[in-house]
Amino acid sequence: MKVDGQHYRTLRAEPAANRVHIIDQTLLPHAFEMRALDSPEAVAEAIVSMRVRGAPLIGVTAAFGVALAMNRDASDACLLETRDRLRATRPTAVNLAWALERMMQALAPLPVPRRAAAAWDLAQAIADEDAAINEAIGRNGLALLEAEHFLKKRPINVLTHCNAGWIVTVDWGTALAPLYMAHDRGIPVHVWVDETRPRNQGLLTAWELAGHGVPHTLVADNAGGHLMQQGLVDLCIVGADRVTRRGDVCNKIGTYLKALAAHDNGVPFYAAVPTPTIDWEIDDAIEGIPIEERSGDEVRIVRGLDASGRPASVTIARASTKVVNPAFDVTPAKYVTGIVTEKGVHPATEAGLAAARPAS
Ligand code: MRU
Repeated sequence: MKVDGQHYRTLRAEPAANRVHIIDQTLLPHAFEMRALDSPEAVAEAIVSMRVRGAPLIGVTAAFGVALAMNRDASDACLLETRDRLRATRPTAVNLAWALERMMQALAPLPVPRRAAAAWDLAQAIADEDAAINEAIGRNGLALLEAEHFLKKRPINVLTHCNAGWIVTVDWGTALAPLYMAHDRGIPVHVWVDETRPRNQGLLTAWELAGHGVPHTLVADNAGGHLMQQGLVDLCIVGADRVTRRGDVCNKIGTYLKALAAHDNGVPFYAAVPTPTIDWEIDDAIEGIPIEERSGDEVRIVRGLDASGRPASVTIARASTKVVNPAFDVTPAKYVTGIVTEKGVHPATEAGLAAARPAS
């Protein structure tokens, strides 16, 4: 996608220079800066601090972390240690474990001298696949928007939560890909963007949509139910960090409440995910998906720019106030109208998702 008219992918590898360039998302939406990562430790730091974030992108970035490690030491011990270190960075998005296992399975059988080159090639292949997968998600989701517009003959209002745009993937995004394509094809869409406290990923969504010229309005997290009651939302589309084979959707905290409001108001609710986001093993999403617990400071402290445009933070809670900060929640499949993947739009059921299952 483009920033100031120039095409970017979120990640650019330079194997010969032992570097991977990422967009530092902690600076967005106020500053757009690339940052070079040159070690698995730097990759781990970038994932933990959310310089790179979003399920597909952390998987791809971790794959490059393995390649950076193999440049330094391609032994079995280093391969295992790197896998474990990167896997521990964020627990909820299954794409991270998926990408690391894919790297392990390809590299472990190889002779040590061949591992580094193979690691860079495979990490790049995973990155290229991700861009292609998300483009296909965009096309499949576009059909939903086209159908809605055909019926209603007016701009289609879509509500989204968090940021599932091009910056959480290598390119295109998941939930936002259909919106970019609809806009490009002249289908009028307007996006209600949830602010998404406490990390405010909605501000990144607003930045992305503005960059692509898609009409949008930022709303406080609690506004969605009211907008739906007023008939101002035609459908909801969110991304996800993990979807179970039964169609339960684990996504950014607050998604569940939006799905409940959508259900109560007859608003279709979709999750758009690449198939590596589907966890085929877990039976019970609420019991089985590890929900990341983040620092209470994310709730206590609000970051932004001060009146002179300089980065600033403001403490809004008393230091003694107890805070709990779960980063994700689970939306049960019964509230999900469909799961959009690169393979199609599936009912959120085990039978419906069977069509998305990779051949084993
Ligand atoms: O904590 P984050 O910002 O990495 O979480 C990202 C999300 O939860 C997004 O909603 C997204 O859908 C998952 S990435 C496509």
